[in-house]
Parts: sequence; structure tokens; C-alpha cells
Amino acid sequence: MARIALPIATFLAAISTLGVAMAQPDPVSTRKEGLRRMQTNLEAIGAVANAGGDTRDTVPRAEEMVAFFRDLPAFFPPGSNGNGSRALPAVWSERAGFERAAANATTAAEALRAAAASGDAAATTAAVRAMGASCGACHRNHRSR
Ligand code: HEC
Repeated sequence: MARIALPIATFLAAISTLGVAMAQPDPVSTRKEGLRRMQTNLEAIGAVANAGGDTRDTVPRAEEMVAFFRDLPAFFPPGSNGNGSRALPAVWSERAGFERAAANATTAAEALRAAAASGDAAATTAAVRAMGASCGACHRNHRSR
């Protein structure tokens, strides 16, 4: 019995170690990947709107942006400024301003979603521009060049 129990215990310990490693991916690479994806979404929505296409097809992308920016502050846990991060200290030292910038981006993404859902290409183009301005507003004070 003991001969069987020991390998099982070892196996379970190995799995739980793996579980911890997988549950805690590097926050810097996670958020960078997410931010690059937001850039792709914004460009894709802008391209459809500029071409006079059916912006309703881009609603899922705008939806993803709403969810991402709502969660954005959580992608910047305290101490996650290493590993090649370009986040400025203000992300943590002036947290209220950072969270406000994230909330503004969420509002802009909600407006983008509404414009895309309306099927109005001109309104969507304007909302893409406003979204881009809110990205830039946060980068100005929170991302190094
Ligand atoms: C609330 C602040 C905030 C908002 C809003 C924001 N960003 Fe950023 N962004 C950052 C910070 C901080 C970094 C640097 C992250 C790092 O290097 O750890 C960054 C980095 C990036 C990067 C570089 C990722 C990489 O691979 O290094 C891209 C691309 C990007 N943002 C695109 C966008 C786009 C597009 C938007 C708007 C749709 C946006 N961001 C909105 C704060 C913001």
C-alpha cells in the first residue's frame, strides 16, 4: 500500500507545483500582450469604419476592450515594474490618477461599442479617435518612451 501511496503523493505534489506556476504568469508579459491586442482591436474597428463596412461586425472587439479596460488596474499589481516594463512609477505612486485614466478608457470603449453597434461608420470613426485619445492620455503620464 505504502509503495503505491508514495508515487501518488509525489505525482500530486508535482501537479500542484505546476498549478502554482501556471496560475501566476508574469504580469508584465500578460498586460503587454493584452495591450497589444487592444491596439489590434482598435485598428481593426477603425479599418472597417473607414472602409464604410458593417461596424456591427466589430462589436465583439469593442466588447473585449470594455472588459479589458475595466480590469486594467488589476494587471498592474504592486511591484510589477521589472521584467522590461515601461510602466512609470506614477502607476503605483499616483494610483488614483492611473485608475481614473483606466475608467476614462472604459467609458470611451463603451461609447465605441455603442457606435459600432449602431452601424454608423462616421460615428464609429469618431469613437475610434476618442478611444485613441484616451490611450494617449494614460500613456503620457504612465508609460516611458
Ligand atoms: C490607464 C492607462 C492606460 C490606458 C488607458 C492604455 N494604456 Fe497602453 N500602456 C499603459 C502602460 C502603463 C503601458 C506600459 C506597460 C508595461 O510595459 O508594463 C502600456 C503599454 C502599451 C503598449 C505596449 C505593449 C508592449 O508590448 O510593450 C501598447 C501597444 C499599448 N499600451 C496600447 C494601448 C492602446 C491601443 C490603448 C487604448 C485602446 C491603451 N494602450 C490604453 C497604460 C495604458
